[in-house]
Amino acid sequence: MNALSLDTVLLSEDKKSIVILDQTLLPGEIKYLNLSKAEDIWEAIYALRVRGAPAIGVAAGYGIYVIASQIETDNMDEFCKQFKEKKAYLDSSRPTAVNLSWALNRMEKVLDENRDKMTVAQMKDRLCEEAHAIREEDVAISRNIGKLGFELLHHGDGILTHCNAGTLATAKYGTALAPIYVALENGWQDLRVFCDETRPLLQGARLSAFEMQTAGVDTTLICDNMASITMKRGKINIVFVGCDRVAANGDFANKIGTSGVAILAKYYGIPFYVCAPTSTIDMSMKSGDEIVIEERPAEEVTEMWYSKRMAPEGVKVNNPAFDVTDHTLVTGIITEKGIAYPPFDKAFENMGIK
Ligand code: MRU
Repeated sequence: MNALSLDTVLLSEDKKSIVILDQTLLPGEIKYLNLSKAEDIWEAIYALRVRGAPAIGVAAGYGIYVIASQIETDNMDEFCKQFKEKKAYLDSSRPTAVNLSWALNRMEKVLDENRDKMTVAQMKDRLCEEAHAIREEDVAISRNIGKLGFELLHHGDGILTHCNAGTLATAKYGTALAPIYVALENGWQDLRVFCDETRPLLQGARLSAFEMQTAGVDTTLICDNMASITMKRGKINIVFVGCDRVAANGDFANKIGTSGVAILAKYYGIPFYVCAPTSTIDMSMKSGDEIVIEERPAEEVTEMWYSKRMAPEGVKVNNPAFDVTDHTLVTGIITEKGIAYPPFDKAFENMGIK
């Protein structure tokens, strides 16, 4: 079994539910969930059953379509009113990954542009088309990021990655792991991947290590606090990470711990690349200071994964799910349209990103 063959998010054949691979059970169990209620789709995003910025965007597109298809009215004004309420509800599931609101806004734009031209039934079909388009485009975008990232690699390279920005985090291929899939397709068997385990939710240990190992890549799992010694020992030639939101100046939010990896990479002189679909670039935010960081429950730190609670009762816990890496630490941002190099605001402008 190769994780690349697993679909992350789909629409069911009867179009009545979204089908997601429950990532909270990986790698032990491969289980798909059929979700049609707004509350269940919200919970699946909040609980990281479907996760990773692009996959969240795909789930949001299909999710709002499925929910909208249940609205029982022929009156377009009423349909739009209920659509917007449900959209706002789904949008509240997680704050940091821009792809959630990006996909929901894209679906709403279809509504706003066509509400005077279509019946409600036609609108439902049009929304379904748009949700499929978001998924299909994501596959193509990830592939392009993979091809561009592959050009940066050399035989025998050691690659460090943080969290999971692989096929499970997208519709297919991933962003940060896509260059490695492209390398495999080109017959390269000599890359070495180091996966940070990524406390507290272990996306590196449970998902990236699973993806890379099942793909046949030489995979080593390290605890987050082992990145420094691994770099010092000369095992890492390049760092690839994903991202949840990039600000106009190139600051970016990604899984908690990413900024520490970037600081280490700078210290050891290792190139540090961010893999980002252009949908993740949020030009409305001037710098990373404006990015909202998700705070998650303390239990993820104190007891989750342990056979018994490991922290004293009542201890204060901070659990920010993301951090912001300063653009000065970033070598380049690999988008589907090309690699952006500093100054990032100019590079984004030249790529036509608004
Ligand atoms: O909390 P998660 O697992 O959704 O966080 C995922 C990440 O931080 C990924 O690196 C990011 O979303 C990019 S996925 C291509």
